[in-house]
Amino acid sequence: MLRALLLYLSQAQWARNMVTGWRVAWRVASRFVAGETLEEAVALVKELNRRGFYVTLDHLGEYTSNEAEAVRSTDEAIEIIEAIENEDLQSGLSIKLSQIGMAIDEALCENNLHRILMAAQKYGIFVRIDMEDSTYVDRTLDLYQKMRQSFGIDTIGLVLQSYLYRSLKDAEQVTQDGTRIRLVKGAYKEPGEVAFPEKADVDAEFDRITEVLIKAALKTGCVEAGPKLPPLIAIASHDDLRVRYAKAAAEKAGLTRRTVEFQMLNGIRRDLQDSLLAEGYPVRIYVPWGSEWYPYMVRRLAERPANLWFFISNLLRR
Ligand code: FDA
Repeated sequence: MLRALLLYLSQAQWARNMVTGWRVAWRVASRFVAGETLEEAVALVKELNRRGFYVTLDHLGEYTSNEAEAVRSTDEAIEIIEAIENEDLQSGLSIKLSQIGMAIDEALCENNLHRILMAAQKYGIFVRIDMEDSTYVDRTLDLYQKMRQSFGIDTIGLVLQSYLYRSLKDAEQVTQDGTRIRLVKGAYKEPGEVAFPEKADVDAEFDRITEVLIKAALKTGCVEAGPKLPPLIAIASHDDLRVRYAKAAAEKAGLTRRTVEFQMLNGIRRDLQDSLLAEGYPVRIYVPWGSEWYPYMVRRLAERPANLWFFISNLLRR
């Protein structure tokens, strides 16, 4: 109930207008977000790299509603790619298709993604398309297939969400060519017709898809993680049980630790990030930055009620 309310608020314009004006909201957001400028993001990436973590950078923004904004977001994505190259960062890029025009016009989005991938391929930088709400999944998979044919699996990869009934099948199909997958539980408000309502089912499906990724890695050749290029398997969860399952299943299948990457959000479960790194697994941190932090912050509040109490206690102390 609380999760559903927060996920609704994450997309409500009236709530965004109200909350982004509060200093306390930024204080909470800054637990997860690197800052509002690219310079702040670059500084955090350097610090994480120094500690042994890889990164994927995300310039916050989604559901762009006009062409000029979508083109501006595309130009900014290319600037990030150039910053990764110029500053020699161990990082890739994550983008949302709705940020670069998918919510307006598919052809515009395709053109913008093509420009981003041209720049990424030039410098050998990997671009991950984040997965958004379920109305975007077919369009995302279609555009991915098109771009993969031109740019190959070393330049572009996908995210699959275990809360969707369809994802297990999608995983089986899309990994046949070695497509790199980030597996997540899913962060949007979805109806029971498309997504498991019960957390236990989402978790069980996560483990089943993990097995699919392991099989695909064995079949297509087990690629090791590198600073700019993740392996086929990227387990993106802060859940001890999901992490433990993936480690055991990969070990049982004979995979080496460098072929299974763990990914976590900046500021969440630092203890787990550190311990996986110490065990010899590649760990990539998702580092968001920018002024469009409101929906990202509210989705993080929805994931964990304790974050909400942190928010409210800060509000009361104003
Ligand atoms: P779960 O929510 O069960 O949490 C397990 C434990 O992790 C909690 O008990 C708590 O200890 C900790 N935890 C989780 N969330 C926390 C939070 N916000 N604050 C503090 N502690 C927290 N989703 C999506 O739909 N599309 C996408 O493209 C992506 N991309 C993405 C990239 C990366 C690198 C990650 C890690 C996650 C995503 N997600 C995503 C988000 C994902 O779908 C999911 O909402 C969150 O990862 C939370 O789910 P967990 O798997 O961590 O489990």
